[in-house]
Amino acid sequence: MAGTLFSSSPSMVAVFSCLFFLMSYSEAGREILVGNKSDSWKIPPRPDYFNKWAQNSRFIIGDTLVWKYDGSKDSVLQVNKRDYVTCNTSSPIAAYRDGDTKVKLNESGPHYFISGAVDHCEYGQKMIVVVLSEEHSRIVPSPAPSPVQQEFQSPAMPPVSRASSLAGGCSLIGMLMVGLIAGIISSGLF
Ligand SMILES: *[C@@H]1O[C@H](CO)[C@@H](O)[C@H](O)[C@H]1NC(C)=O
Ligand SMILES: *[C@@H]1O[C@H](CO)[C@@H](O)[C@H](O)[C@H]1NC(C)=O
Ligand SMILES: *[C@@H]1O[C@H](CO)[C@@H](O)[C@H](O)[C@H]1NC(C)=O
Repeated sequence: MAGTLFSSSPSMVAVFSCLFFLMSYSEAGREILVGNKSDSWKIPPRPDYFNKWAQNSRFIIGDTLVWKYDGSKDSVLQVNKRDYVTCNTSSPIAAYRDGDTKVKLNESGPHYFISGAVDHCEYGQKMIVVVLSEEHSRIVPSPAPSPVQQEFQSPAMPPVSRASSLAGGCSLIGMLMVGLIAGIISSGLF
């Protein structure tokens, strides 16, 4: 009885859509330790050290960069491109000195970070992090995409509204499922 109720039900398709949605978005929200080591934010062994590291990593919207350092000796400044090039620390976009700095990457494109300690930037303690656009950061579907996946790839809606409408849809479906199961239980089928 319950089997026939569920097996052909379009609600199951919706549930799997939600699972797929949650899986594909759970990768966003990674925390990435700059330089892979907790004491790496200091004058590096080579001037290109941090950019080499950044080029070997892949950053997507939703990732969080984490710096660990001695907050009494160093800091993290997010700056514009010109200030990055000239190591100008006088007017950063944001400044962090807490020793355990987390910056969420919520925009695509280049992000510029330099050390706020005197002369550290000049010695190469600076980094460009390029965050991939939504197009690139989307999970690559398997060779033969299912109809569900094709639906997710629909270009008709911009990514943000698609994500939020899917989240809304998922919670709606969740409530419907709870109601359905409650109904089954109260009708004495289980
Ligand atoms: C940092 O860690 C990532 C993932 O574990 C790895 O791919 C990368 O090569 C590492 N980079 C360095 C500089 O160790
Ligand atoms: C650093 O930036 C500030 C504000 O943008 C500017 O007034 C100052 O002249 C700059 N300093 C140098 C050395 O370029
Ligand atoms: C990015 O997130 C931070 C908080 O982590 C917020 O202060 C900032 O306004 C956000 N930027 C954009 C463009 O949404």
